Amino acid sequence: MEIDVFTLFPEWFGWFAEQRHVRGALAGGVRLACVDYREHTPLSAGQVDDTPFGGGSGMLLRVDVVEAALRARYGTDPVALRARRRVIALTPGGRLLDDALVDELSGEPALTLLCGRYEGFDERIIEHFAGEQISIGRYVLSGGELAAMVLCDTLLRKLPGALGDERSSTEESFSATLGGAPEYPHYTRPAEHRGWRVPDVLLSGHHQRIAEWRRERSRERAERLRGGPESSATMDGPRCQDP
Ligand code: 6GU
Repeated sequence: MEIDVFTLFPEWFGWFAEQRHVRGALAGGVRLACVDYREHTPLSAGQVDDTPFGGGSGMLLRVDVVEAALRARYGTDPVALRARRRVIALTPGGRLLDDALVDELSGEPALTLLCGRYEGFDERIIEHFAGEQISIGRYVLSGGELAAMVLCDTLLRKLPGALGDERSSTEESFSATLGGAPEYPHYTRPAEHRGWRVPDVLLSGHHQRIAEWRRERSRERAERLRGGPESSATMDGPRCQDP
């Protein structure tokens, strides 16, 4: 997979790219590159943003600046680019990132992530250059960079090479393997600390009972996320898939 991140702060991604699981993914053939809008701006003095028409606070990333950066990177009209490459604008109001969306994105050969800054993007960037918008939650960050890193992090750990044990990414919280439920609790040595004992079943070596215990704990946690068992009409059925 090839990921291009368009940003005003490419240096933020230097730290990210050095983390072990990210290095693992990069060694496994993933390409992560940053494009600095400022390096491609057609405006003087490195200008990239401007005040909103109609008034209001903050600054917006300019559409001509983003166009120049996309053209420089791909050598094509960004409007046409959208048809052959998934171009995603990171915005607080976008489609909420969840495990299913990450799965979907992990199958893409190439992604382009557009980070806005300040008040965000001139709307024409979103309308004409980005095929979709993604958000990592209903709160406002000062820019899309942290959201892009969150997206890359969760995406890269799905790809082979990022994690030591392949199973740890398929059986983790919210994955299809667990029916969309949060993961069961984990314990390691010591088996007892301050009188807090690890559940006996995990020390039993009885694989089937361990698997049942884990499924049950995972189910309980899903229940709690939904507001407890009282809030659920029935105890039967694939409740983990409820919205
Ligand atoms: Cl993707 N961008 C910004 N600026 N804020 C956010 C976000 C994205 N997701 C949640 N908050």
